[in-house]
Amino acid sequence: MCSKSIWHTDTELKEFSKLQESKQTEVCIVGAGITGITAAYLLSKKGLKVILLEADYVLSGVTGNTSAKITAQHGLIYSELMETIGEEKAKQYYQATRESMDFIKNAITQHRIDCQYEEQDAFLFTNDDAYLAQLEKELEAYQALDIPGELTTEMPLEIPCKQALKMPEQAQFHPLKYLQWMLEEAVKNGTEVYEQTVAMKLEYNRQKTVMTKDEHRVSCDYLVVATQFPYIDHQGLYFAKMYAERSYIVSGKWTGTYPGGMYINAENPTRSIRTATLNHKDTYLLIGGENHRSGEKIDEKSCYENLKTFAAEQFEITDFPYQWSAQDFTTLDNIPYIGAITGDDPSILIATGYRKWGMTNGTLAAKIMTDIITKKGESPYKDLFTPERFTSKPMLKNLFRFNMEVATEFLKGKLSFPASKEIDTLEIDEAAITTVKGDRVGVYKDKEDQLHVLDTTCTHLGCEVNWNGADRTWDCPCHGSRYHYDGEVMAGPAKNPLRKISLDD
Ligand code: FES
Repeated sequence: MCSKSIWHTDTELKEFSKLQESKQTEVCIVGAGITGITAAYLLSKKGLKVILLEADYVLSGVTGNTSAKITAQHGLIYSELMETIGEEKAKQYYQATRESMDFIKNAITQHRIDCQYEEQDAFLFTNDDAYLAQLEKELEAYQALDIPGELTTEMPLEIPCKQALKMPEQAQFHPLKYLQWMLEEAVKNGTEVYEQTVAMKLEYNRQKTVMTKDEHRVSCDYLVVATQFPYIDHQGLYFAKMYAERSYIVSGKWTGTYPGGMYINAENPTRSIRTATLNHKDTYLLIGGENHRSGEKIDEKSCYENLKTFAAEQFEITDFPYQWSAQDFTTLDNIPYIGAITGDDPSILIATGYRKWGMTNGTLAAKIMTDIITKKGESPYKDLFTPERFTSKPMLKNLFRFNMEVATEFLKGKLSFPASKEIDTLEIDEAAITTVKGDRVGVYKDKEDQLHVLDTTCTHLGCEVNWNGADRTWDCPCHGSRYHYDGEVMAGPAKNPLRKISLDD
């Protein structure tokens, strides 16, 4: 069984070297996922000099671990937006999403990108009576906003369904094949790409300057922060305005003819379904879901097991060669933050909070940021997505709720009694939280029988991290930082590793 996503199994991505010297450019983009690569493509096409920095390898983050649906059906969003931001802005949200879908389709068609793009109807379905009225309300929102859609009790795929809301002519593709082409084009246009290059902080010399972990500098006129969580905060307090969720995907072979369609249910636990074809040959079913707040104390292995049980019951699939997980952030009003990081500096742009709809939102973010850079700060969608907005009552309510939850996690971490397992009783590939010389520590015994002993205090703002046994990571329940079992940062907002603890006297 492979813990890489299915997309990585049939795509050889070009490797790029590490940044070895300081540089100057017009635009520095940090983060080589769909947002960073699309922005590099668009900006370089307009003749701008672009440097793209990636802390790990290109497309190794959430873009390479997505379910890759290209759809404007973002759950029960339109009825909510009608209530929170009004009809006009809700319509803009739909238009913006449709435009990013059209952009993807046009690029693929025009340049004949071989990325398994196919149009599919999308279905938002429910088996919970409590959601029937919500689906009806969502349909009313579709009608008010001129969004094509209809309610149905019959879906092409035979799974239990009391009612479904169909949005026709959405799409799916192979995200890495698509972005591989886009990255090659950006490079042909002069974009310089550096992997294994960690942006650490921002300095202001004569220009703004990105300082890397190896202490090289990239000076730039514009900085595009396309890391999933902005690697700089700039008093934007993004850690307080978003929360992180993990989700899981399992994939097994589909035999026979697939009846078509992409599916997601409205209720919990989430079940998201689509197909993918590997090497133009074998069709696999992707079943995603089991979303939960990152770092929550749960058994992550059971998330995969629950998805497998569902697949076995519904489709008689019992062999799952692929399984993987991903994390994404949700904002206070469920609309991504795209635009100037703060009003004080319109030349630093961020994009985050895609709520697991990264293919459309990432493309949209790249388009908006390109418009802002090349059209003197103008974009038709600037006001709707500006990270500075604080316009609706639910935002205030959610700000309070998110931060109460963080405070609760902080206290829970400090007060809860450590697990009882002693270090010398740990099995291979097992972890525990215990105490060493009175300090709370996390210990993992790796497959080579090596112990990794770490201070479990998150280096971001001090919450206590929890063990994620499925991915062998330490995850923070407060703002979603993730650490490798050796303590190195895998995902921010934390920038520094967990402190290593020595067992020697
Ligand atoms: Fe903020 Fe851990 S991510 S305290």
